[in-house]
Amino acid sequence: MNPAPNVSDIPVLTIDGPSGSGKGTVSARVAAALDWHLLDSGALYRAAGYAAGVAGLDLSDAEAVARCARAMRVRFRAGSDGAAGRVMVNGHDATDALRTETAAGAASAIAALPEVRAALVDLQLAFRRRPGLVADGRDMGTVIFPDAAFKVFLTASAAERAKRRYKQLKAKGLGITLAGLQREIEVRDRRDATRAVAPLKPADDALVLDTTGIGVEEVVAKILAVVRP
Ligand code: DC
Repeated sequence: MNPAPNVSDIPVLTIDGPSGSGKGTVSARVAAALDWHLLDSGALYRAAGYAAGVAGLDLSDAEAVARCARAMRVRFRAGSDGAAGRVMVNGHDATDALRTETAAGAASAIAALPEVRAALVDLQLAFRRRPGLVADGRDMGTVIFPDAAFKVFLTASAAERAKRRYKQLKAKGLGITLAGLQREIEVRDRRDATRAVAPLKPADDALVLDTTGIGVEEVVAKILAVVRP
């Protein structure tokens, strides 16, 4: 799937940052407020890890995982009545499996492989459709959409991010401890920030927002003010 030739006219807002920075919630709210499309690129890495797992692949076999990622069919089904949407991977409903910390770990591992990152580029570019796109991830502003008109990088202290993730996962009834989660987040952050390809870092032209102690509504308002001043 190649984007339309005049695709550069379609505005993009990139929202990058580490896990627990509030990216997911904030991106969904901003996309809804603007009535723009939403790309949850983390879900694509999770889906690729899931598909590779289902196929019984060794996650360190870059070529095999990349081939699997390129062949993968992902569909995001909108939720109704405020319910969260479903994610279909190769025809299976993978929504619950993709939310687990196991899926996050697999995603982080394969995301460090350049072959896998390359395999997912076209799929991500295809989300750029009219009237606009909010792209949520780690390298949206630096690698995938370097020409984006609007770039935001969200951060928050590690302790605050662990607390937020803990609340989310607890609400979903997944058994985990706060201390364990904070350790996992720190390990994953370190890997995401130090990998050779597309490491997690703000684009030079990104607005960096520290969301520690700031509510979602306030962050959404700050971002909307940048897009439509
Ligand atoms: O945002 P998330 O927790 O769903 O992302 C899962 C993993 O995928 C995360 O460890 C980093 C990786 N990822 C990435 O490398 N690049 C992206 N654009 C999005 C996610």
